[in-house]
Amino acid sequence: MKIAVLPGDGIGTEIVAEAVKVLQALDLKFELETALVGGAAYEAHGHPLPDSTLKLAQQADAVLFGAVGDWKYDKLDRPLRPEQAILGLRKHLGLFANFRPAICYPELVGASTLKPEVISGLDILIIRELTGDIYFGQPRGRRTAVDGHFPGADEAFDTMRYSKPEVERIAHVAFQAARKRNKKVTSVDKANVLETFQFWKDVVTEVHAQYPDVELEHMYVDNAAMQLVRAPKKFDVVVTGNMFGDILSDEASMLTGSIGMLPSASLNAKNQGLYEPSHGSAPDIAGKGVANPLATILSAAMMLRFSLNQPEAAERIETAVKAVLAQGLRTPDIHSDGTTKVGTADMGAAVVKALR
Ligand code: NAD
Ligand code: IPM
Ligand code: MN
Repeated sequence: MKIAVLPGDGIGTEIVAEAVKVLQALDLKFELETALVGGAAYEAHGHPLPDSTLKLAQQADAVLFGAVGDWKYDKLDRPLRPEQAILGLRKHLGLFANFRPAICYPELVGASTLKPEVISGLDILIIRELTGDIYFGQPRGRRTAVDGHFPGADEAFDTMRYSKPEVERIAHVAFQAARKRNKKVTSVDKANVLETFQFWKDVVTEVHAQYPDVELEHMYVDNAAMQLVRAPKKFDVVVTGNMFGDILSDEASMLTGSIGMLPSASLNAKNQGLYEPSHGSAPDIAGKGVANPLATILSAAMMLRFSLNQPEAAERIETAVKAVLAQGLRTPDIHSDGTTKVGTADMGAAVVKALR
């Protein structure tokens, strides 16, 4: 089993180091190969996703990814910006299905900004379409406006679009995931305004005919954003487009206590996957040794389950994470009175120690 390890920038290197320690402590036969990506790759090779890194990711059984980006790269031409690395990996590997499970561990009920009764026992799954939508739609760019409110002015444009097969395949993923859970799918759209999302809604409804055992509800994204903090436990599987899924998953992370707790899996049609925390490179805390590594460690568990056929090892990691939380160990983002504040490396070491 070959795992491509791409730590990236900022806290990416710190949190991936801890996930790697956990993987190595499992005593399974892995080959881990590390490569530069994002700003780090730009510095060394002049490109955020060098061919060698892309090849490594394509040839591996799975990719463990940290995070990319830093404010200092924001002035670069877009194709050279660190974020293009993760977008390029998603596109080149065809990683269209992004699973972002938001689970509130009982020990962390007090870490969220929301009331305990709203989030205790929460277990929802956000399924984000990851290779379409306004993220990848062409054309895009800047030009002089020929119409609109200000003809002759500079303007910028992106294109929101979805094809039928793109919506069908993510809908199948969502209904099949719901079958293994509480059999309810909420499809989040903006069909009242956007043709792209009326189409999305129509296609999801059509696919639903093949899953009569699963309940389907449709919800507008603005309402979904509100319902996620009002009554999140009413959701089971949420399926939505690339941009709405990006935003709603960050919102959902606070239901778990912290963005540092939200893992993710991005899968293609062959179940090859890239595993990364849902958060970014957190330049504000990078280098301080305080980032929460649990989202990345839990992403490694998802990798073992989805791509490497090692469900027992995945469970060992998840059980160890729960044990460490039960011991009261907390990085600053989830720290509260009566718990013990630890740094990134100590948290990683505690998970290693708690492995059965
Ligand atoms: P961010 O997720 O990096 O950080 C948002 C806030 O959450 C910050 O205050 C940060 O300190 C905190 N945070 C994030 N992860 C944490 C962790 N593990 N433990 C404790 N606190 C944590 O989002 P941002 O600040 O908007 O973006 C920073 C950079 O990251 C940008 O360049 C952005 O483009 C990039 N980014 C990359 C990815 C990715 O690589 N997949 C994802 C999101 C953002
Ligand atoms: C994420 C990030 C990325 C996204 C950025 C860094 C391209 O926010 O993985 O959620 O928007 O998909
Ligand atoms: Mn995001």
